[in-house]
Amino acid sequence: MTGLNRATLPIQLDITFRLAKRTDLPKLEWYGEYSHFRTVFRRTFSEQEQRRRLMLIADCADFPIGHIFIQLNSSRSLWDTRTRAYFYSLRVMEMFRGKGIGTRLLEEAETMVHELGCGWTTIAAAKDNPGARRLYERMGYRIFAEDNGDWSYIDHEGKLQNVHEPCWVLEKKLNFR
Ligand SMILES: CC(C)(COP(=O)(O)OP(=O)(O)OC[C@H]1O[C@@H](n2cnc3c(N)ncnc32)[C@H](O)[C@@H]1OP(=O)(O)O)[C@@H](O)C(=O)NCCC(=O)NCCS
Repeated sequence: MTGLNRATLPIQLDITFRLAKRTDLPKLEWYGEYSHFRTVFRRTFSEQEQRRRLMLIADCADFPIGHIFIQLNSSRSLWDTRTRAYFYSLRVMEMFRGKGIGTRLLEEAETMVHELGCGWTTIAAAKDNPGARRLYERMGYRIFAEDNGDWSYIDHEGKLQNVHEPCWVLEKKLNFR
């Protein structure tokens, strides 16, 4: 073999789906790409501790390579089948996309909230993100509303950031046997 030949080392990676732990918080910033969401991650984690939100992680070698966050509607009884969970912040690291991890995160999230008594889930797809909409529709989600997608957060430098991301709002009835 010469130095011009390309060497390949096939490896198998196990992906584990689990709730976030405190030590994931800095790693969720993905080496700076999402530092601006630092306070959002911290607040979401603290709401996970109160069981108002969940942070479901796709873990590879103790690193969160993907995630989906879940807002639980605590205003209704756990056994009320009309109870809805809101899924958001579905994201997979770029080099791991197209391998089924996003689909599996959604499936695991659905199973998790169904076990908590949710009968319906809601998710938003930005109008300029047809790939996400295709993924959700393939998984049985149907558009039922649209939204301006206006929200704001305080970034890691303490600055207010306003987001305007018009989106489709999709829903799915969870039918597990
Ligand atoms: C949207 C997102 C989470 C999807 O994650 P993902 O891991 O790539 O999702 P999947 O691999 O399950 O599915 C994506 C595509 O890969 C294909 N795929 C699924 N399993 C596959 C496999 N084993 N091998 C090859 N391709 C596969 C799917 O058919 C799908 O194809 P599509 O382009 O026709 O939709 C990811 O693209 C992402 O993080 N995007 C940026 C953030 C974002 O847009 N989030 C949505 C907010 S609205």
